[in-house]
Amino acid sequence: MTTPISIFTCIECDKKYDIRDIRYRCDCGNLLEVIHDLTSSIPNPLDWKTSLDGRKGQSAFYRYQDILFPSMPKENIISLYEGDTPLYDVSYDFPNFKSLKLKHEGMNPTLSFKDRGMVAGVSWANALGCRHVICASTGDTSAAMAAYAGASPNMKGIVLLPKGNISPEQLAQAITYGALTVEIETDFDGCMKLVQELTDKHSIYLLNSMNSIRIEGQKAIGIETLHQLDWKVPDWFIIPVGNAGNISALGKGLRELYSLGIIDKLPRLAGVQTDGASPLYESYKNKFSDLVPQKAKPTKASAIQIGNPVSFKKAVRELQHFDGVVESVSETELMDWKAQIDSLGISICPNSAVSVSGAMKLRNSGVINKQDNVVAILTAHGSKFSNTAVKYHDNNTNQFANKMLIIKPSIDELERTLEL
Ligand code: F0G
Repeated sequence: MTTPISIFTCIECDKKYDIRDIRYRCDCGNLLEVIHDLTSSIPNPLDWKTSLDGRKGQSAFYRYQDILFPSMPKENIISLYEGDTPLYDVSYDFPNFKSLKLKHEGMNPTLSFKDRGMVAGVSWANALGCRHVICASTGDTSAAMAAYAGASPNMKGIVLLPKGNISPEQLAQAITYGALTVEIETDFDGCMKLVQELTDKHSIYLLNSMNSIRIEGQKAIGIETLHQLDWKVPDWFIIPVGNAGNISALGKGLRELYSLGIIDKLPRLAGVQTDGASPLYESYKNKFSDLVPQKAKPTKASAIQIGNPVSFKKAVRELQHFDGVVESVSETELMDWKAQIDSLGISICPNSAVSVSGAMKLRNSGVINKQDNVVAILTAHGSKFSNTAVKYHDNNTNQFANKMLIIKPSIDELERTLEL
């Protein structure tokens, strides 16, 4: 590997570490972030920006690599052609916004945004020669890590899952991609604690988003969105928050674009949680007071049922930088919005619906105003959560239920049912 132009820096005490070290925290206990010498990888930002238009044939990680992670040796990249996800314009359906666009990260290879971080994380593990990678997960990180480890030569994935708390589709992903799959009788926070203890003791590479290399890959979501918008900055990005890695990545990528002069203003950020799993929201209400970990309550948005978000401090820093807000939504709100977005032909998971419900709620309360251009990030595909969707539609008391009908094989009965 040639001398990297990236280093780890502690988010609190600024201590620096070699990027080739296998470490996730500073000696002071705080998380690290990766700092690149972007003046060296992108000496002429305007030329770089123009060159991106001619590189649409490349998958997103290669295309944006100079800003995402310039120190990654190209020969070590394990890509499953993640990225280039659609940015749906649904402004016509929602005229109470100047514009509303939905960035559908569920259209990635393993059906969630996690592929963006895993292409970076697993490729780096490959570059470092790691043979075993591990994560705790609410279902999507594990699916992505299992897939990318499967795609790597000589790499085995190990996933720790909260028993009974992830969907059958997500479970099937980890198993079928070949990861060693361990269900544990605890919640996500319990799995996260165990995985940190284990990787402190053994040389297994940790690929949760507390590994700041993953954050670098996830920056691509915001950067690609801006590219799709021809670098015209929306007023708002709305994003669901669980362990708080993704909102941290979104903020970091946008800050870097701004520092290069690729964009000329910053959007505002809104993080959204569910009422039963809302430690960031509680902190926000108290002027971003210190994290008070919660016992997260069950939610249909099971991927963000997290009470002790590892990247809390990073998320708060980004929210403050972007004049951000945090909202919280109920189970009814999120499931009703899921049904409404699904019915537009855009299949979303309950966690993505948290983002949409948050946008609607912030619009209704006037935090987002009618003149605002808004991008809501959809984090995973609806087909990962079919049981939740079928149950919603099977219950006529739900406002947007589309109840399935069951009839005998008779033409009369069919005609009666169709009112013909
Ligand atoms: N949406 C989905 C679909 C997710 O899977 C997650 C996190 C989030 C949103 C929240 O992102 O944690 O960076 O704030 N899923 C993790 C997992 C925890 O294990 O798959 P975050």
